[in-house]
Amino acid sequence: MTETVFANAKIITEDSVVQGMVKIVDGIISAVDTGTSVPSGAIDCESDYIAPGLIELHTDNLERHLSPRPRVNWPKRAAVLGHDRELAGAGITTVFDALRVGSEADQKRKGYVKYARETADNILDLMRQSALKVSHYIHLRAELCTDTLVEELHEFSSNDHIGLVSLMDHTPGQRQFRDTAKLRVYLMGKHGYDDAGVEAHIARLKELQSLYLEKHRAATVAYAKEVGAVLASHDDTTADDVSASAREGVTVAEFPTTSEAATACRAHGQYIVMGAPNIIRGGSHSGNVAAHDLANNGLLDILSSDYVPASLLNAAVSLGMLMEDIAAGIRKVTAVPADATGFDDRGRIAPGKRADLVRFSLHDGLPMISSVWVRGTRVS
Ligand SMILES: [Fe+2]
Repeated sequence: MTETVFANAKIITEDSVVQGMVKIVDGIISAVDTGTSVPSGAIDCESDYIAPGLIELHTDNLERHLSPRPRVNWPKRAAVLGHDRELAGAGITTVFDALRVGSEADQKRKGYVKYARETADNILDLMRQSALKVSHYIHLRAELCTDTLVEELHEFSSNDHIGLVSLMDHTPGQRQFRDTAKLRVYLMGKHGYDDAGVEAHIARLKELQSLYLEKHRAATVAYAKEVGAVLASHDDTTADDVSASAREGVTVAEFPTTSEAATACRAHGQYIVMGAPNIIRGGSHSGNVAAHDLANNGLLDILSSDYVPASLLNAAVSLGMLMEDIAAGIRKVTAVPADATGFDDRGRIAPGKRADLVRFSLHDGLPMISSVWVRGTRVS
């Protein structure tokens, strides 16, 4: 039996912050006691915060490691390891790695390139070797209006640790890209298009949508049920979008783009996920609803670091300070994402839960992480 005690800490429990100690036996929390004493053999946390390890439902961060610069491809195994260590350092102890499925069949076109299965093979293989520091699950992001979606989905089975499947449609003129001005700038930057190039690209995407949207949506909903994954919507924009998602069994709403959609998500009992970078930057990079506004109206349940892992704790603390309730901010990156994805073994500092923990202090409102543990073992 190995016992570790973190004493003299500000422990962030589900609904409050208490000064006290957390006891861990064999990687599981055995007790949470109040007080400032530091028993012999205990680690003195010097009044730092101890939060549950963060749970991240949607991160694109692996893509940045796979392609650290435009047209530079990094070896996949090395990319997964670098990503894993970065998450550990950011206090993320459970991650759903977002992998896009659905690619452009004709690779002479500038479209989505297939990568999900090979990347997942590397993640799963490293998991089997116990080479990863944090707990990984696969989040298949189904890009509905693509040629190869269905065949790519069926390269994955229920043995592949799939926790989440999301339904995405990034066709211009709607959802994330209702405002096509921002999309034009993005496409010009990404592909070096002129105006005619942008027009041709948008026309092609609209053609793909008319070919595939309905049948691929139905196929993906059926697939998620088959593999037992939680189903998420993505960028729902209108109350009708949300009603359709709810009918299909969606329980998690990623990044609703308007207050109207978020209000409908609440009415349908969906968990509302917003991007932590949106909180840090004070708005959406695609010109959509600001996460702060949703939070002020009680319409933000879960934060996701999206493309910046370190934003997760930072945004949770910022929201907590705004609400004058740190525990409420931290809940959005721990207990609530645990509930949304069906974990009852983590996400809270309470007896019986995994000792996935983050120690940090605050400096001018910025959280500085000093150490991170997964099942009681230090990982960063
Ligand atoms: Fe999106």
